[in-house]
Amino acid sequence: MIILVTGGCGFIGANFVRYERAHHPSDRLVVIDAITYAGNLHNLDGLESEITLVRGDIADAPLVEQVLRDHGVEVVVHFAAESHVDRSIVGPAEFVRTNVVGTATLLERSRTVGIKRFLAVSTDEVYGDLGPQDPAFTEGTPLGPRSPYSASKAASDHLCSAWFHTYRLPMLLTRCSNNYGPYQFPEKLIPLMILNALDHRPLPVYGDGLNVRDWIHVEDHCEALDRVLRHGRDGEIYNIGGRSERTNLEIVRQVLALTGRPESLIQFVTDRPGHDRRYAIDGSKIERELGWAPKRPLEGGLAATVEWYQRHESWWRTILSGEYRTWYERNYGARVQAI
Ligand code: NAD
Ligand code: TYD
Repeated sequence: MIILVTGGCGFIGANFVRYERAHHPSDRLVVIDAITYAGNLHNLDGLESEITLVRGDIADAPLVEQVLRDHGVEVVVHFAAESHVDRSIVGPAEFVRTNVVGTATLLERSRTVGIKRFLAVSTDEVYGDLGPQDPAFTEGTPLGPRSPYSASKAASDHLCSAWFHTYRLPMLLTRCSNNYGPYQFPEKLIPLMILNALDHRPLPVYGDGLNVRDWIHVEDHCEALDRVLRHGRDGEIYNIGGRSERTNLEIVRQVLALTGRPESLIQFVTDRPGHDRRYAIDGSKIERELGWAPKRPLEGGLAATVEWYQRHESWWRTILSGEYRTWYERNYGARVQAI
């Protein structure tokens, strides 16, 4: 198979590229990534000669079509997105551009080129907010996004569904809970808390810290995506969860215990506007239909993740200093722009 991975220089995309290289070495991988602040070529270190990387914007229709045709792409796995809720509150326009216009562009070019399979990677946040006793989200839960991020992802999901029903584009959609693991950009809860703890800086907890997320290790997510890509049914939606609901405070306390730092580093700060209280995934469909369930319990996965960040200090130091951006332009800027 020749697979186009959009957003392959980001957190989950890069882990997916690594997963596919390890499990399906005969497939060819082409990555398209705009290399925004969240894209980092170091996430693909060691794979330079094994994949094709194109620096480009998924909203650039002629470029997308050229990449699909020139590389004979058969399958698209679509990760590229603006992905951080806090950034979407401060600057929603970029979220609409990439997550809505970008997805529409990719779908339309995939249709005209005749792509065999299109897997769209989405989030449980499109379902909205749950109370403590509410049942978990199923694939049939009506969408109720409440942040500019989740609203733009919901729009993206609707477009994917429209391209399936209207044009019969062979599309599948997954909605996953909160990921953690190697290569996650340190703006999201877990890596931010790990790095602040390692550097003895305060850990900013929004509101009362009792918001609940269902955490999944990124490798489990990648395995589920691979299963859906190869065995899922066209037009179907699959929820993917980690069976690990925790409050933010529980996560932060575990990070402090794993890094050997005191709980006095916890600092309660002003809550995020419109902060969703709880997300929870009912993953019974993917389990029943595709025989997939998460393997990594949160406690072990979190310990391994803390260790990963401890062992890869140069990876995150260049991010904190901003040096990863200039390094990229110096070493690769011109080369990866050329197809
Ligand atoms: P990320 O922010 O780490 O990476 C996004 C990648 O997309 C970056 O490499 C960035 O450069 C690239 N990108 C952004 N705009 C682009 C554009 N216009 N054209 C081409 N590339 C562009 O995000 P992530 O956490 O890896 O998430 C990947 C996908 O998975 C997203 O669609 C997200 O909504 C979804 N998702 C994430 C989570 C999570 O917990 N992180 C959970 C469920 C679903
Ligand atoms: P985040 O990793 O941004 O993911 P999402 O908002 O998409 O679920 O945040 C996870 C939870 O952690 C969320 O309830 C907000 C909270 N949070 C903090 O309390 N402090 C922080 O500094 C961050 C980034 C998040």
